Amino acid sequence: MLHAVTISNGKATLCSRYVKTYKYKTENEAGYPLFPNVFSGFNSLIASAARGSVTAARVITGQYNLSNGIGLANTSLALFSNRLFALGESDLPYEIKLTENGDIETVGRYDFNGKLSMSMTAHPKIDVETGETFAFRYGPIPPFLTYFRFDSNGVKHNDVPVFSMTRPSFLHDFAITKKYAVFADIQLGMNPLEMISGGPPVGSDPSKIPRIGILPRYANDESKIKWFDVPGFNIVHAINAWDEEDGKTVTLIAPNVLSIEHTMERLELVHAMIEKVKINIETGIISRQPLSARNLDFAVLNPKFQGKRSRFVYAAIGNPMPKISGVVKIDVLKGEEVGCRMYGEGCFGGEPFFVANEDGVEEDDGYLVSYVHDEKKGESRFIVMDAKSPELEIVAEVKLPRRVPYGFHGLFVSESDMRKLSVS
Ligand SMILES: [Fe+2]
Repeated sequence: MLHAVTISNGKATLCSRYVKTYKYKTENEAGYPLFPNVFSGFNSLIASAARGSVTAARVITGQYNLSNGIGLANTSLALFSNRLFALGESDLPYEIKLTENGDIETVGRYDFNGKLSMSMTAHPKIDVETGETFAFRYGPIPPFLTYFRFDSNGVKHNDVPVFSMTRPSFLHDFAITKKYAVFADIQLGMNPLEMISGGPPVGSDPSKIPRIGILPRYANDESKIKWFDVPGFNIVHAINAWDEEDGKTVTLIAPNVLSIEHTMERLELVHAMIEKVKINIETGIISRQPLSARNLDFAVLNPKFQGKRSRFVYAAIGNPMPKISGVVKIDVLKGEEVGCRMYGEGCFGGEPFFVANEDGVEEDDGYLVSYVHDEKKGESRFIVMDAKSPELEIVAEVKLPRRVPYGFHGLFVSESDMRKLSVS
């Protein structure tokens, strides 16, 4: 379900609507679940995989057509190729339209004129300067990773299969620089055989050494990819990456998930520590610097700095995830916390999102927005924080008529960007 707060002419409108996916429509018609939620929700993987044989029967008897996708489009949102998409990494993007009165409509599953097949990450990376979008898909059968990009006209270019990813890894996110795409091959992998027998589709392998793969971002094949072992570096999300001035070093900022084996079942035992990792592509020498001891994830930055050297990261404080008790601002160049707001006892927020001041020059000139739910009072708010102030001062808020669930990603879209959208 998507939740949108539309703020226009001094009025705020909250709308909550299901994305009308093939799965939603088919099951809504049938009146009961036909296909489990495999891959579509990070925390629902294990419970949803157990009904494999029942599902197989429904596919064989034609109740459910797999070629129409199994996704929920419930993980994230992105605006690229002049369209607004709801994304889930197990399926193609679903195009969404926000109407003038704040309603949410599903336009439909979008395959970029037949060029995008199977699925796409829920975390594409957009280079605001060039207008290009970079993305990938991963899966349980070779190639386990496929990279692709969309040019500034929204045209998808050819797939780049990455066969040097030798095992199916859980690859939820990645990073780009101006020169490279940066992938993480972590200890969390997919178990295709387990899935068939009804076991968990994702599991951890402590014997595997995590790797970072660096591929030229305009590569037409994987011949120039380089892989670097980074023991103990298991990332689910990447925050940003950039090329250093020496021309041979890539810096990656990402939350390293400690005790990755608990990610699927025991989230309260998971602690993610944001690290700055520098990789010398020529020598293979890697240096690592933790940027905060806090449990942080769902981090964002000023979107204009995606793929470029950036100074500020705004990260959600897990208490534990997906409950977010506050947000911190980290100066990643100095390696220190420079701002913090706690939401208060019993209050938990969603992912923060950075909204740049349209006339702003400095990187942190803008606002942080998020949803906050007060569990004691049962009240929810949409809050706007001043990203420049050390207290991340709340400068505006809207009381919501109902809550927005914890744990998903979001997107802020300006009115001017909304007007530019084309609809299929
Ligand atoms: Fe994510």
